[in-house]
Amino acid sequence: MAEGGKPMRLWGGRFEGGPADALTRLSVSVQFDWRLAPYDLLASRAHARVLHRAGLLSEAELERMLAALDDLELACKSGDFRPVVADEDVHTALERGLLERLGSLGGKLRAGRSRNDQVATDLRLYLRDHVRSIVSRLVELETALMSQAEEHAATAAPGMTHLQHAQPVSFGHQLLAHVHPIARDVDRLRDWDRRAAVSPLGAGALAGSSLPLDPQAVAEELGFDSAAPNSMDAVADRDFAAEFLFCAALIGVHLSRLGEEIVLWASQEFHWIEMDDAYSTGSSIMPQKKNPDVAELARGKSGRLIGNLVSLLTTLKGLPLTYNRDLQEDKEPVFDAVDTLLLVLPAVSGLVSTMRVNTARLESSAPDGFALATDLAELLVRRGVPFRDAHEAVGHLVVWCQVNDTTFEKLTEQDLAKISPHFVETPGGAAVPGDRGGVPGTLDVLNVQGALASRKAHGGTAPDRVRDQLTALREIVDGQAAWATGS
Ligand code: ARG
Repeated sequence: MAEGGKPMRLWGGRFEGGPADALTRLSVSVQFDWRLAPYDLLASRAHARVLHRAGLLSEAELERMLAALDDLELACKSGDFRPVVADEDVHTALERGLLERLGSLGGKLRAGRSRNDQVATDLRLYLRDHVRSIVSRLVELETALMSQAEEHAATAAPGMTHLQHAQPVSFGHQLLAHVHPIARDVDRLRDWDRRAAVSPLGAGALAGSSLPLDPQAVAEELGFDSAAPNSMDAVADRDFAAEFLFCAALIGVHLSRLGEEIVLWASQEFHWIEMDDAYSTGSSIMPQKKNPDVAELARGKSGRLIGNLVSLLTTLKGLPLTYNRDLQEDKEPVFDAVDTLLLVLPAVSGLVSTMRVNTARLESSAPDGFALATDLAELLVRRGVPFRDAHEAVGHLVVWCQVNDTTFEKLTEQDLAKISPHFVETPGGAAVPGDRGGVPGTLDVLNVQGALASRKAHGGTAPDRVRDQLTALREIVDGQAAWATGS
């Protein structure tokens, strides 16, 4: 930001001396709220039109005003017009720019509005715009995960609970389990957008205006669905910012859970994936290292996203109506959350889309840890054995294997017979009377692909169900992409 400049305050009239330096330094927000300039200019154009319709700006004045606002916008974009340290905030800086272009006519735009309704409007406009970019980046991550999932719909992997091998799953199913939370995040942001589409402009400082303005027309021009029904709530409300920060914090949590899994998958111990060189880092001392910094930063950044939410909620708690200067503290957490998401998401998408999955390693470790024990117990249930007894029998079998240093895959029928009569098949595949046609043999269920394929109910990990899931998700994600780009 440029130094110097003659201080131009929007509130000097009743003050004799200038403000203390310490106050000025505390009060100034232009160093961070300058990014609202394009939105402030949009709102200014809408306000100018409303002043004109109210007979407060002539046709010629409106034209000069709009031309000056266009010129100021170009100057902001090119950097010819920049805020100076003497500008208290974005609104002050832009009014200075307008006065420089229009002389006293520039002072007419302030009629009927206040920085209180302006800043609330600007922040909503900024966020509604940026939420669409964030959704586009989320769609890219969903797409990256879905492409890997498609390739690995039938790749068996160890499914875990408590970070212990539990039951084999399709690796594609696991990848899609990371898509659903993100799809819900997008859904939440779209829902947020509906509530954020309310325009505060026209509320003035807090009580509306005695001038014959038209808040509904301004709302429509700015792409809002409606104008705020209560001027006091309009300037005091920051629910839209807090709610956005919750959405961002939850996205952070989802990215951190995905990040943590990728850190594990890339470890020597798991060795499930190989990260692309472009998305991994080295060590300054250990030449052999290849580190998952992208995943770790995704995990780490969730801390600041959660912190931003807590920061704003704490600021809002206990504030009396209506506008209080505390509310100036709403912007940095919001901007930081937007910047953080736009920074992290492309890196995580790149990491996911370029990682190479070690299919052989996943498939060979899928049955490890007696992961087919539940399949075996369920087989006994299908033969009529109560689950309680089946669970017990399979538990004994696990211990027997451990004592004899063997695995389920190496068992013979003789071994099985030693452990429990339940494992012994009777002719017709049923240990108890009754028609249980199609029940497989004991040794037949002890294979991973069979275990995956058998989980074929809705939401299950059978490769066919995973492909159905993908088809449904693709449709959802296409809708999300279209929403983000307004197509
Ligand atoms: N810069 C302020 C903010 O960000 C807006 C100005 C309202 N200030 C005031 N004194 N009424 O909230």
